[in-house]
Amino acid sequence: MKILAIESSCDETAAAVVEDGRIVHSNVVASQIETHKIYGGVVPEIASRCHIESISGVVNQALCEANVSVSDIDAFAVTYAPGLIGALLVGVNFAKGLSFAAGKPLIPVHHIRSHIASNYISCPTLEPPFLTLVVSGGHTQIVMVKDYTDFEIIAKTHDDAAGETFDKTARAMGIPYPGGVHLDEIAQKGDPLAYELPHPHIEGSPLDFSFSGLKTAVINKLHNAAQKGEEYSREDLAASVRFTVVDILQKSLFECANQLGVKKIALAGGVSANRLLRKVLIDKCKELGYELYLPEKKYCGDNAAMVGSQAYFEYLNGNLADDTLNAYATMPINTII
Ligand code: KG4
Ligand code: ZN
Repeated sequence: MKILAIESSCDETAAAVVEDGRIVHSNVVASQIETHKIYGGVVPEIASRCHIESISGVVNQALCEANVSVSDIDAFAVTYAPGLIGALLVGVNFAKGLSFAAGKPLIPVHHIRSHIASNYISCPTLEPPFLTLVVSGGHTQIVMVKDYTDFEIIAKTHDDAAGETFDKTARAMGIPYPGGVHLDEIAQKGDPLAYELPHPHIEGSPLDFSFSGLKTAVINKLHNAAQKGEEYSREDLAASVRFTVVDILQKSLFECANQLGVKKIALAGGVSANRLLRKVLIDKCKELGYELYLPEKKYCGDNAAMVGSQAYFEYLNGNLADDTLNAYATMPINTII
């Protein structure tokens, strides 16, 4: 079954043709990074306009690269939530139009479910159940994937997401947008133990995360250094932030895995490209005897191949939409619309 998938939840306009959930025939991503860079972050209104400008060309390119036409497509899939509402609406309406014109089904896909599905493409033998650490710009959760369309949130952040923590601390250090990507690069040259940073915990929810205190601690360090006219090492501070965030994530992940007795662990979301996070998980899974599944770098950030993958399993489960499909800024992963 060939699915044409569309993703426009944030600052990437993407389209892909994916067969049977695992075979990627094309994967086109038009990034808006250069447009948003001067503002230091994504400007929602500008993102929506950029999606409108690019979506038609991106979808055409995805069909072209897959060597198919609209009539060869069996169903159309689209990210409908969560994300920037104006951005999501561009993809949702475009997919509705295609589905209506071609007379083929429309499959609504949850953004976090699709991030998890990136592992089905990169690791063809992976099947649920498994435990996933989802780390993106807007989400940080540990999710038990009981089945392809059955999810349980085991742990979550109470404030900032991991990617947001990287982006905001990077911004405070004068590192350009997208902060997490550059911070990862700069951290390679620093000493991770140079600065001691807090490991905040949530009273009564030991597996959950809280990153806002860590972010504030970094900003305070920078303010204090500026006030006293002291130099600080950007490399060392970046390395210390990266080390602390990764340490917090991995401790909770392995504690969850231990408590649940699961042996398969996957990583998903934009932050899964982080070099230290990947290395720590590889090393620790080897040491503790867990099977680890990592998305290839090209499927870590927002893309439509992962949407096409998850869409196949949603289709098999009968999760279809019609022309009343709406976009939602927030939506729990276990909701069925
Ligand atoms: O999943 P994603 O592409 O978009 C959302 O759904 O949010 O994730 C984007 C997030 C941003 O916060 C970005 O800074 C972060 O992923 N990111 C990274 C790296 N690459 C992307 N964070 C740390 N290290 C990286 N290598
Ligand atoms: Zn994402």
